[in-house]
Amino acid sequence: MNSLKNAAGYAALAVLVAGCATTSGTSDKVTYDNTIRQLVETRCYTCHGPQAPSMVEFKKDDVGFKAKSLGPRMDSYENLLVMVNGTDTGAIMRRLDDGTNTKDKKPGNMYEQLGADDAERAANLARFKRWVGSWNLKKNNDISDEERKAVLAPRS
Ligand code: HEC
Repeated sequence: MNSLKNAAGYAALAVLVAGCATTSGTSDKVTYDNTIRQLVETRCYTCHGPQAPSMVEFKKDDVGFKAKSLGPRMDSYENLLVMVNGTDTGAIMRRLDDGTNTKDKKPGNMYEQLGADDAERAANLARFKRWVGSWNLKKNNDISDEERKAVLAPRS
């Protein structure tokens, strides 16, 4: 009787362990393809979609584009990466941070775009953080090679 009960217990435990293995494994890795593309389309495209200028165009007339509520284009993985680990390294992190890591302890000016309320903003910030891997706010001139390598932001 007792051993039967144990066997059932072990079987249940095995199912539980197997379940944990899948949730902590590759299946919950945050990638551009499985999470970030959709998130950017929903929350950022009004001003950073295909109609927006490339980073090079934007830099030539940032005041003009800002007046039209347009920021640099994030319509592809490559264009988004420019602001994660490219010519504008750390821009995504500086603008989206909730104030925990900024110098003045104020949220970045795009933080509010992450969601309609605090809960949604926090959840979407967590997604961005997991995607980036190492949430580093440093600019190109300040970031070390080691720190740059820790910035992951995988496509898939
Ligand atoms: C209502 C329009 C609007 C929305 C929505 C918006 N942004 Fe912006 N964003 C701008 C404008 C305009 C600028 C350029 C002015 C500035 O630098 O603040 C900008 C600038 C930025 C920059 C700095 C780019 C650089 O390197 O100079 C980043 C990064 C950024 N936005 C990220 C985001 C992200 C991520 C989202 C979505 C979660 C988002 N923004 C949603 C309007 C918007």
